[in-house]
Amino acid sequence: MCGLVGYVGWRDAAEVLLAGLRRLEYRGYDSAGVALADEESEIGLRVLKKAGNIDDGLEKLLKNGSSNGSHLGIGHTRWATHGEPNDRNAHPHTDCPDELALVHNGIIENHQSLRKWLSGLGHEFTSDVDTEVICHLMEHYLQDEGDLSQALARSCEHLEGAYAVAVVQSPLGANEREIVAARKDSLLVVGLGDDENFLASDVPAILPYTRRVMYLENGDFVRLTADDVTVFRSDGRRVDRPVTEVQWDPVQAQRDGYPHFMLKEIEEQPAAWESALRGRLSGGEVDLQGLQFPALEDIEHIYFVACGTSYHAGMAAAPLWERLLQIPASAEIGSEFRYRQPLLGEDTLVVFISQSGETADTLASLDLAIEENCPTICVTNVVGSSMARRADNVIYTQAGPEISVASTKTYTTQLLILFLLACHLGRQLPHGQQHSETCDRLLAAMPSLSDLERQLLNDTTEIGSAAERIADWEDSFFIGRGLDYVSALEGQLKLKEISYIHAEAYPAGELKHGTMALIEEGVPVVAISTQPQLRDKMASNVEEVRARGAWVVAVTDQPEGEVARRSDAVIPVPDSEPELSPLFVGTALQVLAYRAAVLRDCPIDKPRNLAKSVTVE
Ligand code: F6R
Repeated sequence: MCGLVGYVGWRDAAEVLLAGLRRLEYRGYDSAGVALADEESEIGLRVLKKAGNIDDGLEKLLKNGSSNGSHLGIGHTRWATHGEPNDRNAHPHTDCPDELALVHNGIIENHQSLRKWLSGLGHEFTSDVDTEVICHLMEHYLQDEGDLSQALARSCEHLEGAYAVAVVQSPLGANEREIVAARKDSLLVVGLGDDENFLASDVPAILPYTRRVMYLENGDFVRLTADDVTVFRSDGRRVDRPVTEVQWDPVQAQRDGYPHFMLKEIEEQPAAWESALRGRLSGGEVDLQGLQFPALEDIEHIYFVACGTSYHAGMAAAPLWERLLQIPASAEIGSEFRYRQPLLGEDTLVVFISQSGETADTLASLDLAIEENCPTICVTNVVGSSMARRADNVIYTQAGPEISVASTKTYTTQLLILFLLACHLGRQLPHGQQHSETCDRLLAAMPSLSDLERQLLNDTTEIGSAAERIADWEDSFFIGRGLDYVSALEGQLKLKEISYIHAEAYPAGELKHGTMALIEEGVPVVAISTQPQLRDKMASNVEEVRARGAWVVAVTDQPEGEVARRSDAVIPVPDSEPELSPLFVGTALQVLAYRAAVLRDCPIDKPRNLAKSVTVE
């Protein structure tokens, strides 16, 4: 989610780090910093870090502070997951006497218990971030081990979660100019040079200097000096990792070799779902780390307020919340909500959903809810965003930065978080008890969703064939019932947005009340069917449109079922819990839209007339 870079060699370390961080800024950009070993002075380690983007923050600091003369350092550009994006929480972090500095990508799930333990041992914390526990663990073990590599291996034994972490020590205390690093579930690559070596979370950071890279594996540790790279495991055993020659150009490299950010982000969904659940769901138990939700016994109505794709996440969540919490729940469009003068008050819970946390209409609705004393929850991807700061409670989707204008991984992580919250809150309410079995069933299914998603993404042949058929038409229809209607809405939005094909979504039973007049020979209809109680009705609706000449592709978890049999083509999705099906249908329709847009040669990551964050009303 963030970017990290390290350098040891003969060049000006500050220059290499700054250039590398600039190339990683697309990964996270709310603060940036470097730690430079300063061999000439008595300072030892010079740590410079600043909130804001690199141009406005770190670069100015580097110009003002003398950075010359250092040939060893680490740097970081941050996408906040814990703690506000401010100077204090920016990386690198240091231990108290500034003997070592450290940068980290990922999330340390057990940081709270480690913080408590280390504070008890007398360590003083100066930031709100999970990363700082690693500094103090390092400080603790460095006293015992006297060796940076061993201290890192001992420290990592305590860590639960995901990390790519790099550490440098003050040259005043160190025997050698070295960087040590470790990875678990977060990418880390070593770049090999002549009398210099590089470390980075992503290849683009080091491409101008070397194309010879070594990808570290989970559980690897690495020690870099100017003329040596040693990879080892936690027991000290040395291992070899192959060296590969990277062929990508710098722009391709930013996308990890993918032709578009959108495809990269679609394919990141399994990892994004794991990240969204990390530390929050374990053994069927939900832990939302201290979030204080309102007393639900006093709540009479729940509104989900959002725009665009995020509104569809609210639409998908509302029926499950209503059922599990036994409280009426509905989704509202941000730009409409305020103007229809809704009845609001202390007994109205309002849940705001926004990838950016900045969408003007959603934000204005949040202000209205606050004015009316409603308890509020915000589900967003951006730590410290305006909505995150203003709502009573915030829960982050932890999907990582999304660059492509079309929401993909942020939509499905919103769904996952909202489904998780529904089960968690449902289990707590006395009158929700009647649905505790449903909550248990859904929570039990969640950990395996990411693997099912991987299977879906591994074989997209049928989706590709359907896209070829749809890409030739200027009109299309998406139909479904219940939750499948919500997926239809999201699917048609994605198709319109990036392929410019006109698409309309309808509740399948509603077509015959007017829109059926538009169905003509060959027009593509995407018919979604994942809800067991609605399968027969959907099969009849498919018949209706086929009888008028439509070409129908079924998106279904029952590829042998009646809906599939009555259709011209089938896109199978994993057979999971029906309540969770929008996750898979959402993904399949993202791929469908993407493939159609590729065939039509559209500017996929930046569709015409659209912006990633809509900050005007
Ligand atoms: C569509 C899309 C938009 C956003 C909408 C709300 O792919 O991305 O419809 O969902 O502009 O944005 P956020 O979620 O940032 O409030």
